[in-house]
Amino acid sequence: MSSTSKFSTPGGKSSELPMLKGTHGPECADVRGLYKDAGVFTYDPGYATTASCKSAITFIDGDEGILLYRGYPIEQLAEHSDYLEVCHLLMYGELPTPEESAKFNNIIKQHTMVHENIRDFISGFRYDAHPMAMLVGTVGALSSFYHDSLDINNPKHREISAQRLIAKMPTIASYCHNHSRGLPFMYPDNTLSYVENFTRLMFAVPAEQFEPNPVAVKALELIMILHADHEQNASTSTVRLAGSSGANPFASIAAGIASLWGPAHGGANEAVMNMLDAIQDSGETIDQTIARAKDKNDPFRLMGFGHRVYKNFDPRAKIIQQMCHELLDDLGGDQPMFDLARELEQKTLADDYFKERRLYPNVDFYSGIILRALDIPMSMFTVMFAMSRTVGWISHWMEMHEDPEGRIGRPRQIYTGAARRDYPV
Ligand code: ACO
Repeated sequence: MSSTSKFSTPGGKSSELPMLKGTHGPECADVRGLYKDAGVFTYDPGYATTASCKSAITFIDGDEGILLYRGYPIEQLAEHSDYLEVCHLLMYGELPTPEESAKFNNIIKQHTMVHENIRDFISGFRYDAHPMAMLVGTVGALSSFYHDSLDINNPKHREISAQRLIAKMPTIASYCHNHSRGLPFMYPDNTLSYVENFTRLMFAVPAEQFEPNPVAVKALELIMILHADHEQNASTSTVRLAGSSGANPFASIAAGIASLWGPAHGGANEAVMNMLDAIQDSGETIDQTIARAKDKNDPFRLMGFGHRVYKNFDPRAKIIQQMCHELLDDLGGDQPMFDLARELEQKTLADDYFKERRLYPNVDFYSGIILRALDIPMSMFTVMFAMSRTVGWISHWMEMHEDPEGRIGRPRQIYTGAARRDYPV
């Protein structure tokens, strides 16, 4: 039975707020009638207690450390699935049958190449352009190549745009990397898996044979699955808000990439590596670093520790931690820095300050170390995140266009400026 909650103003007006309940998660007071009934708005900067939409894609319980894609726990998907299967799950709501999987893989492979003019477009960026700057521009520019399928009211157009985006992101991401290093743009190889193909696009050169490294492919596949969606975070909400006006999918995803670029969102694993490099360069011991993080007179915080939503543990961090340890054992790499990272992890996990505040290494702590071990430059970290998250963004964009309650996003405000006054004459 549906319930309501009564809201009354000091002035005597009131509104009956229907209480809405999803499959999991807390009840929500439906405040849509509040202004009409009681003449008031709600105030919620950062929308921290506001559900902006109904969504059937991803569920997070931060207190319990739960992350579900379409109902499936992330742990099970990480163990049994692969990235393209997860893409199918997020986009269409179900795991594919073997036939559906073959068909979906085939469709994605058909779209891995980009128009030759996109290659020229990327070549036109300054030699030292940041790969995220190139990515945001290039994905936006895709709108100028697909006039044939930009009718957002046509479900077939929406679907092919989503498929094109998923298929082309590895190609574009690798070109952004290769341009900044003066490396040639490789063409995709559709005999390889999605992730194998990406490693080839990134690291192969035409003069030599390329064999994908299975350890690197396994690690990247895992990172991509773990980052594929995370419900209504800043970049996903940006995609929805941009798309709510009817903006085309490429422009909407470019808006999401712009939001992800911010250091408070997609840049955290880069911050982890900067911190570890700084510790290494300074010669400071891990005990000294931890003491600084605990010192209330020092603004320093350990990057890659704590999470706004996950207050017990980040389920993605648990999964990736094991992969990170395996990879460091296998690859060697920047051993002194990796040793520092391990010491930091072990000492903080045993430290009362971090235990009491439930501050655990988060997914960014481990993904930064893994990407470094795989020789992926730091300027590409957020690009890798964007590539993984494209499916999440476009699934939300598609869901929004199928939602009968969908309307243009238009928040309100509390106006604090000058009161009405007359122009001096
Ligand atoms: N190092 C040291 N102390 C910390 C850290 C940290 N990384 N994070 C939180 N604390 C302490 C705070 O000083 C505070 O202590 P107090 O209770 O004695 O005052 C307590 O833990 C709670 O901190 P809050 O800032 O209230 O926690 P909040 O949930 O608001 O912040 C956040 C979460 C922003 C992620 C924070 O933990 C942080 O700054 N972490 C480092 C940056 C980071 O790794 N960001 C990426 C997060 S993952 C992501 O967003 C994709």
